[in-house]
Amino acid sequence: MASPVLIDTDPGIDDALALLLAWSSPEISVEAVTTVAGNVPVEQGMVNVFRLLALRQPTPRPVIAMGAAEPLARALVTGQRYHGEDGLGDLANWPETPKPPLEPDAVSVIIDQARRSQRLLTLVALGPLTNLALTLKADAGAVSLIGRIVAMGGAVDVPGNVTPTAEFNMYVDPEAAHRVLAARLPLHLVPLDATRQAVLPRAGIKSALRRATGPLAERIVAFTERGFRIDHASGAQGLVLHDPLALALAIDPTLAEWEPVRLVIGPEGETQRTSGEPNCRIAKGIDANRFLRLFLDRLCPALPRRRASS
Ligand code: RIB
Ligand code: CA
Repeated sequence: MASPVLIDTDPGIDDALALLLAWSSPEISVEAVTTVAGNVPVEQGMVNVFRLLALRQPTPRPVIAMGAAEPLARALVTGQRYHGEDGLGDLANWPETPKPPLEPDAVSVIIDQARRSQRLLTLVALGPLTNLALTLKADAGAVSLIGRIVAMGGAVDVPGNVTPTAEFNMYVDPEAAHRVLAARLPLHLVPLDATRQAVLPRAGIKSALRRATGPLAERIVAFTERGFRIDHASGAQGLVLHDPLALALAIDPTLAEWEPVRLVIGPEGETQRTSGEPNCRIAKGIDANRFLRLFLDRLCPALPRRRASS
């Protein structure tokens, strides 16, 4: 029986890869996707989710809901310098998609999914934690029912990627991260300490997708190109798969070693160790080869069957 999952995302190139991985993973069922301002403004995040839905045509089709347009208590800083203005590498000629619904109802969707699936639900947070913090404010009882929260974010024993001490998701909304850490939730954090080990060589994606020609494979190669170029330029050996690793760890936690820690959030989103009862567990060492095999085997399955009528 596939486990129900809600993915909260700020799509972004690596978020898009995480969604594609999720939609090809039989262990989970993506019941809902909520968007949050982060890499791109939240309205653009909605457009990108609809682009990916049209491209991949997952079943079941998830509920889609727009979330917070800005962090709890500061102006939005986006990641468009890396992800592109549109968040998916600024490609031309995306097929037209229906106009996404733009009422902010992510909080009610998270509450509904939490009350529906309770302990069975895993919430995978791939962007700033604004939506989760707002849901805690609206209905902490519902959030307390969620079985697991797997969040990509933080830089614990390694340098940050926005400032020397802060990772992007935590930097964008430290107030939200503080509230989530204070809520005594089953929080499994996947920080840069782990994700920087999840590097996809450019040759890897090309060889994996050579077997899967068609629009999906062509789009993946195209929208990841910008990420490869910028990650290479900053010294990585390939594309750093931050969000796909977090999603993979929601599917198979044995891909990482975990450490229970108590973290506090600094004023600029620093994730600092402190003494006292652990308030989360963080992924540390990962089995990078086993993760990359899982990711590439699933990223681009045989093309979705065309509906009989088309
Ligand atoms: O620091 C990496 C994180 O910030 C990833 O989630 C990426 O998509 C950006 O949101
Ligand atoms: Ca993200």
